[in-house]
Amino acid sequence: MPPPPPSYYTSLESKLASTSAELETLHLDAALDYSMDSSNPSSVPNCLSPFVPSPSSVCASIPPLLSSFNLPPPYTFLDLGCGDGRVCISLSLSLPQTKCLGIDVSPLCVSQASANALSEGRLKSSCEFLEADVVGMGGELDYTLYGGWREVKVVYMFIFPTLLEKVWPFLNALEGLEVLITNTYHFEGGVEVQHGWRRVDVGGKGGGEEEEGGEFNNLVTYTRVCSDV
Ligand SMILES: C[S@@+](CC[C@H](N)C(=O)[O-])C[C@H]1O[C@@H](n2cnc3c(N)ncnc32)[C@H](O)[C@@H]1O
Repeated sequence: MPPPPPSYYTSLESKLASTSAELETLHLDAALDYSMDSSNPSSVPNCLSPFVPSPSSVCASIPPLLSSFNLPPPYTFLDLGCGDGRVCISLSLSLPQTKCLGIDVSPLCVSQASANALSEGRLKSSCEFLEADVVGMGGELDYTLYGGWREVKVVYMFIFPTLLEKVWPFLNALEGLEVLITNTYHFEGGVEVQHGWRRVDVGGKGGGEEEEGGEFNNLVTYTRVCSDV
């Protein structure tokens, strides 16, 4: 299948713009409600990074970024904190052999992501969204929630530092994980080295140096230190 044209990413972004703006407001309100009253049933529990969508430039740069790692398909790509699902939805078109999985603590996000995937013609077998709080996951992964954790080779994260610092137990439990991608907020102080990972320069794509006009499109990639040995 040929890669989608660059216009695909911007047209998906425009298509999702109004529901995503509503979701952003609703989600922020629900997260704030939780910080004030955790028993409020409409609140989003443990939301450590409110929903803000990745720009289309990020969705467009992930397929070439992944191709530079030559990961043999099939494998699973996980968007940790998937929001409205746009990263998974767009990737599942460019890499049809790749399973795209999104997890999010927010039921609002998960249902919107699932609806968006459906309206874009994605089947659950190629693009799936699950409600899960990544904080506290790890050690023993919940295989009743998702049976394919071992196939996860890539994790994408566009999440605040407060959440980023809590993801290591979960990442360390993913036995097949080979590539990490962070957007805008990155691991600091060499913490990735302590966990056996290192930053990699992938030739301008995902080097983390460019930031266009304050858009959230500054990607950094990491691989396991031992994967080179
Ligand atoms: C900045 S948004 C990123 C959305 C999406 N990944 C994208 O790039 O378009 C961060 C997401 O992290 C989710 N999140 C916050 N706390 C979380 C937690 N404890 N576990 C899982 N997801 C969480 C939020 O609900 C939100 O949708």
